[in-house]
Amino acid sequence: MATAIETVERENPLIVSTGATLLPQPCVLVIFGAAGDLSWRKLLPALYNLNVDGLLPSNFAVVGFGIGASGDTDAWLRDRARDGINHYSRRPSDDVHWEDFARSLFYVEGSFNEARAYASLRAKLEAVDHQFGIPGNRVFYLAVPPQAVPSCVQHLKEAGLISPAEGDRPFTRVIVEKPIGHDLESAREINSCLATAFAEQQTYRIDHYLGKETVQNLLVLRFANSIFEPLWNQKYIDHVQITVAEEEGLTHRDPQTGEVTGSRVGYYEGVGALRDIVQNHILQVLCLVAMEPPRSLEPDVIRDSKTQVLHCLRPLSPDDASKAVVRAQYIGGDMLGQEVPGYRHEVREFFAMRKQPIPPESTTETFVAMRLFVDNWRWAGVPFYLRTGKRLPKRVTEVAIQFKDVPPVLFNANPSVPLEPTVLAMRINPDEGMSLRLASKLPGPKVRIYPVKLEFHYNASYGESTPEAYERLLLDVMAGDPTLFMRSDAVEASWAFVMPILDAWNEGHVRYLPEYRAGTWGPLEADQLIEADGRHWRVL
Ligand code: BG6
Repeated sequence: MATAIETVERENPLIVSTGATLLPQPCVLVIFGAAGDLSWRKLLPALYNLNVDGLLPSNFAVVGFGIGASGDTDAWLRDRARDGINHYSRRPSDDVHWEDFARSLFYVEGSFNEARAYASLRAKLEAVDHQFGIPGNRVFYLAVPPQAVPSCVQHLKEAGLISPAEGDRPFTRVIVEKPIGHDLESAREINSCLATAFAEQQTYRIDHYLGKETVQNLLVLRFANSIFEPLWNQKYIDHVQITVAEEEGLTHRDPQTGEVTGSRVGYYEGVGALRDIVQNHILQVLCLVAMEPPRSLEPDVIRDSKTQVLHCLRPLSPDDASKAVVRAQYIGGDMLGQEVPGYRHEVREFFAMRKQPIPPESTTETFVAMRLFVDNWRWAGVPFYLRTGKRLPKRVTEVAIQFKDVPPVLFNANPSVPLEPTVLAMRINPDEGMSLRLASKLPGPKVRIYPVKLEFHYNASYGESTPEAYERLLLDVMAGDPTLFMRSDAVEASWAFVMPILDAWNEGHVRYLPEYRAGTWGPLEADQLIEADGRHWRVL
C-alpha cells in the first residue's frame, strides 16, 4: 500500500519543486573514527536507510578508518554496522537490503598519526574504486575530536589523497564534525589547517540540526507563505524562545540493572552545554529564524543571509555575560520514577571506571539559559531567549514566536485576566510539526475566550518517519550541495559571540554552579532571568 507521502507525491500538481536537484555522484565515503559512537549510532544507520530508499549513487562504497577493529576488519565493521542499524535505524534491517549494503562496507585499521596507515588506506581505496567502478571520487568524513583534525589533514595531503578543487579531476571533499574547535582561536586554527589542503567549496562543516526537516521547513514557512513574513519583525513579535531540552544525562545505563552501558563524559567534561549546543545548533536555528529573505536559493546567498544575523548579534559585555546568561549543573533526581545520579557523580564514575585520576569537582555546565538581541532594523528590541539542558523532564526542541498582545480593549480589556498571547511554535524534536495558538470563543451564550491550537504534524500529514538529518546531509555532500553546511566565517562568528561568556566564566573560577534536580526545568536563576522581563518560559 502506498504511504501517505507517496500518495501526495504521485503526479500531484500542488507540489512545487524549487532549486536545482543535484544528484549524488559515485564515490567512496571514508569514515575516520568509524569504530566510534557517531558512526555506530548515526552514520551507518543513515547510509543503510539511503540504501533502502535507493538514494545512494549506483557506484558507492564505505571505507571505515581508525583503530578499534580486530581480526577480519571488514567483517568487524559489517557486524558493528548491523548492530547500529538494529539499535538506531529508522527502518528495521531486512536481509535483502542488508546483504546489498554490507557488501559495500570495508575497514582499514590504523592510527591517524601514522603515514603507513594512510598508505594502507590508499591501497584499499584503489582496490575499492576498481571493484565498484568508482572514478576516484572521495569524501573524507572526519568523525574525530577537533585536536585530531590537523594530523588527519596533513597525512591525507602527504599521502597524495587530496585532489584540487579545480579542473575535471575526480573530486575530494571533506566533512568535519562539530565541535569545530573549543574556542575562537582553536576554530580559526582548524579552519586555516583545512584551508591548507581543501578549498572552501570542498569543505563541509556539519551541524546536523540543519539537516532536520523542521529546521529546513523554517525557511519554507517564512518565505513560501504570505501571512507570516509581514508580521516577522519587531512591530508584531514580542519575543522568541528557542529550547533544546534533553532527558538524557551523560551516562547510559541498563534500565533493569542500572549498569553503565555507555558514557559521553569523556567528550562532554570541560565542553559543556554552551559549546555543545548553543554555539552551533541553537545559533544556527536562530539564524534561520532571524535572517533576511535571501535574494535566491543559491547556497552562498542563503549562507550569506544567515551569517549576517551572527554579525548583528549584540556583543555581550562582561556584565551581560553574568546577568543575561545562566549556567547550571544537574544534581541527582527523579526521571520518570527512577532515581538518577547527578553530573558530578557521573564524572567520578567515568574516571574511576577507566582507572584514571578523578579530576577536581566539575564545573562543566549541563544547562544554559540566556537572553540575546539581534541589533538590526527587523529585530531591534526583541529579546531572544535560549535554553538548553541535559536531564530536563522531556526531550523537546522547539522555536516559539510569541506575538505582541492585542490592545487592552474589547476582549482584552480586563487587566487582571489578560488574553493568552498568540504563539507560533515550530517543533523540531520529537513529533516534528508546528502549531499556532489562537484565541477562540468557547461555545455557548456567553463570550468566553479560550486558547486553541491549529496544529500540523509531519507524521500525521505525510505518514512516514521523517528521514534522519544525517541522511539528507550525507546525500548533499555526495551531490556537492553546501547549502546546509557551515562556512568558516559562520563558525568563527558564532565563536566570537560566545567568547565573552566563556571568558567571564573562566575568570570567575567558581567552585560550584547553580544546581537543578534531574527531571526539573533547570535552576531558579533561569526563571528569574526571563521573569525579570515580565515573561515566562513556555510550559512544554
Ligand atoms: C549533539 C550533541 O550535537 O546533538 C549532543 O553533542 C546532543 O550532546 C545532540 O545530545 C542532540 O541532537 P538531537 O538530534 O538528538 O537533538
